[in-house]
Amino acid sequence: MSQNIESVLHEQRVFEPPVAFSRSARMQAADLERLRREAREDPLGYWARLAREHIHWQKPFTRVLDDSAAPNYRWFTDGELNVSVNCLDLHLTERADKTAIIFEGEAGDVRKLTYGQLHAEVSRCANSLRALGIEPGDRVVIYMPLVPEAVVAMQACARIGAVHSVVFGGFSALSLKDRIEDAGARCVITADGGWRGGQIVELKAATDKALADGCHSVEHVIVLRRSGQAISMQEGRDHWWHDIVATQASVCEPVWVNAEHPLFLLYTSGSTGRPKGIQHSSAGYFLNAKLTSQWVFDLRDDDVFWCTADVGWITGHSYVAYGPLAAGATLVLYEGAPTYPDGGRFWRVCAAHGVSIFYTAPTAIRALMKLGDEIPAAYDLSKIRLLGSVGEPINPEAWMWYHRVIGGGRCPIVDTWWQTETGAIMIAPIPGVTATKPGSCTQALPGIEAEIVDDEGRPVMAADAGGYLVIRRPWPSMLRTIWGDNARYIETYWSKFQNRYYVAGDSAHRDADGYFWIMGRIDDVLNVAGHRLGTMEIESALVAHPRVAEAAVVGRPHEIKGESVFAYVVCKGQRPSESELATLKIELRAWVGEQLGAIAKPDELRIVENLPKTRSGKIMRRLLRAIARGESITQDVSTLENPAILEQLRGG
Ligand code: WTA
Repeated sequence: MSQNIESVLHEQRVFEPPVAFSRSARMQAADLERLRREAREDPLGYWARLAREHIHWQKPFTRVLDDSAAPNYRWFTDGELNVSVNCLDLHLTERADKTAIIFEGEAGDVRKLTYGQLHAEVSRCANSLRALGIEPGDRVVIYMPLVPEAVVAMQACARIGAVHSVVFGGFSALSLKDRIEDAGARCVITADGGWRGGQIVELKAATDKALADGCHSVEHVIVLRRSGQAISMQEGRDHWWHDIVATQASVCEPVWVNAEHPLFLLYTSGSTGRPKGIQHSSAGYFLNAKLTSQWVFDLRDDDVFWCTADVGWITGHSYVAYGPLAAGATLVLYEGAPTYPDGGRFWRVCAAHGVSIFYTAPTAIRALMKLGDEIPAAYDLSKIRLLGSVGEPINPEAWMWYHRVIGGGRCPIVDTWWQTETGAIMIAPIPGVTATKPGSCTQALPGIEAEIVDDEGRPVMAADAGGYLVIRRPWPSMLRTIWGDNARYIETYWSKFQNRYYVAGDSAHRDADGYFWIMGRIDDVLNVAGHRLGTMEIESALVAHPRVAEAAVVGRPHEIKGESVFAYVVCKGQRPSESELATLKIELRAWVGEQLGAIAKPDELRIVENLPKTRSGKIMRRLLRAIARGESITQDVSTLENPAILEQLRGG
């Protein structure tokens, strides 16, 4: 961590917003100042005004914030709305023929949907869910490739008040099963398969496996035909999308739900045990997703917005499925891998569809940067006017490359800090106003009171001193709870400072200008290629293997992925022979892939006789981390039961 602080402290470059951009930006310096003042002077009045102006309410709210059960805050509690109506129906008068979605499949197939067509398709899907008996509050798991129907399915759930829980298509059957069971889903929407890197991702087969033992809550499975290979369909349970959805009426009366009605659950990794079902509300979530789409991305009617995230992640919820539609934008969806069939794919998609705003993750930027400047130079990227970054700290080198090569030196970069739990962007520049510094997400948005505190919860005043990143006041799109486990919600996010602040779980520091620099997680969560993975989750997966007695997982810095997964494993019984080791390692990696999904596979796996432990029996993780990083050991190792294992841990 100290190394991290060092490197960012040396970053002195400041980029003023380009004049040409600022001149026509939606938000000017005076607007931002006005919003900040309003939020400071009357925080509740501020959010209430925005909620009145930016949400179409079927029944207006009279109460802004209910903090009677804090830290379970509730917003706009007596209002009623429908999120899908707010994203789609409101555009039908002016934008019915405007393109809402430009879709490009991995094989190059292109399909466009206008707002009118999207509205009709969402209505048909909503009607089919209703025909299957799905009621408001029922959970629907969506396990799909990144195709327009994934967005349609999410919006359709919102339309009838069903609660969706999207599971990323790269997760394994077992992960899917855990999520279905935790959510108690009645319906799963999936596809035969999706395309990724020229291969078919077998989604229906994985769904069948998940449902084969357990998942008793599931009554129906809707299957989109996408990849076209043969799959098995179970009579009575499984329905083809083209049979059940396509035949429905293209209008669907929305269900007006309470502001606090859960819009969705999204599972994310935590520091301990099982993934947490992060529960978001309808009105509060929608409000911040819409506002940030307009403020941070300066979205305007002629923009083509491409957020590369999959709908399986929060970024794909707020900046694919909800925010940009709420703002009436045209968005791009691309199904496949960034480098398929070659490293120019992203830039080809940008050029072909005239992308004007491009939002991606540092891990993708680094991977594409490595391929050289010639590849992007071959494409016309002149339409791009704004770039965004999310998911992990962006290293200044990648920032500069993004700025120079992709942005042609003319585009502001918005480095956006937020989390699954926060629902929407929290700390980010306003592109026409805020000067940026490579590697800093700059300042909190108006109404968001971000702060850095020490272990006692006291604000850290000294510039560049690190501490816990916390949010001092509730905000509308904050998570409401962890599904089925409110105690864990309080314990994870609030108890550290006696419910006074929301604790993000990141460490950060602020420079002399008050800019935030995120340093990384403080808990046992890894950030691998922008995805949150709990070390405990991977450890439990390893321990579930019949040959494994014990496992410890740590992160190691990785040039492209940010962090990589490094696992130490102790086998049951005798230590395997040299010849067995290689095959066992392969088997264990595949096993983790099967248990959790390919993204969690350890990049390196060391089989050792025992793990280093303190006298009280705790695994010495700091030591393991130092060894994984090849650093010299500064820790006292005299308490080690078997000092000889140091050699093994080092891979000797
Ligand atoms: C990290 C993704 C630095 C951070 C939206 C956070 C970032 C976690 C940034 C949330 C950023 C996200 N700079 N770090 N701009 N954005 N993070 O829930 O550690 O998948 O806590 O949400 O990603 O990851 P999640």
